[in-house]
Amino acid sequence: MPYRIELDTELVSASIAEVATSDWQQGLPTLRGQQVVLRELRASDAASLCALLTTEEVARFISPPPTTVEGFEKFIAWTLRQRTAGAYVCFAVTLRGFDTAIGIFQVRNLGSAFDTAEWGFAIGSPFWGTGVFEDGAELVLDFAFETLGVHRLEARAAVKNGRGNGALLKMGAVQECVLRQSFKKDGVYLDQALYAILDTDWGGKRAPITEPATVRVH
Ligand SMILES: CC(C)(COP(=O)(O)OP(=O)(O)OC[C@H]1O[C@@H](n2cnc3c(N)ncnc32)[C@H](O)[C@@H]1OP(=O)(O)O)[C@@H](O)C(=O)NCCC(=O)NCCS
Repeated sequence: MPYRIELDTELVSASIAEVATSDWQQGLPTLRGQQVVLRELRASDAASLCALLTTEEVARFISPPPTTVEGFEKFIAWTLRQRTAGAYVCFAVTLRGFDTAIGIFQVRNLGSAFDTAEWGFAIGSPFWGTGVFEDGAELVLDFAFETLGVHRLEARAAVKNGRGNGALLKMGAVQECVLRQSFKKDGVYLDQALYAILDTDWGGKRAPITEPATVRVH
């Protein structure tokens, strides 16, 4: 939950001048993967997200999520305002055939018209290690590079967050440096690794080179 409602005013006013209105600002498309469907958040997602994203293991290395269903409803309303303003998008993660939100992917504009952006994600722990993250991440990265027009997509992960770092590396993110004591969690400053994926990097991942069939000459 890297982005907070307190940033609302600042992000809305900064983005209006910079971002031309695009279709996704009117409403996010639904993205379908092998296992997951990513869609716009709805107020009714608050209960499942509150149950799944407030556990100690999920929240351990991220900015504190809301603590109540009502808090999540406010967060969801904020994400929709930010999307309309062209500053940020947040997808609900659902499993194919089920409509329950089990996690989120966020992308935030950091530069001019999303040329540089930052992504973040959180998924309920019953779904860790199942392929849900990778399936959803591919959809979000396609959306970021092809629809939002991102050139450089950054992410920060607490160095101690093994799964967060492993997930980013798996998607081809390159660790560029360590930001010393850049994140305060429960009163303790933690180091964060800064990662980036460039649009040119991602083109390579989505179209892996397949080995030509070996021709045996006898
Ligand atoms: C981050 C998150 C979405 C990733 O989803 P996930 O299902 O756990 O991710 P995956 O299992 O697909 O990938 C994690 C990778 O890290 C690896 N990993 C796990 N623990 C690790 C550790 N301690 N050190 C290094 N790598 C580790 C896994 O082996 C896996 O790689 P593999 O599939 O090649 O084996 C999920 O763990 C989550 O929601 N965490 C809480 C919120 C959070 O930390 N968000 C990220 C902020 S950067």
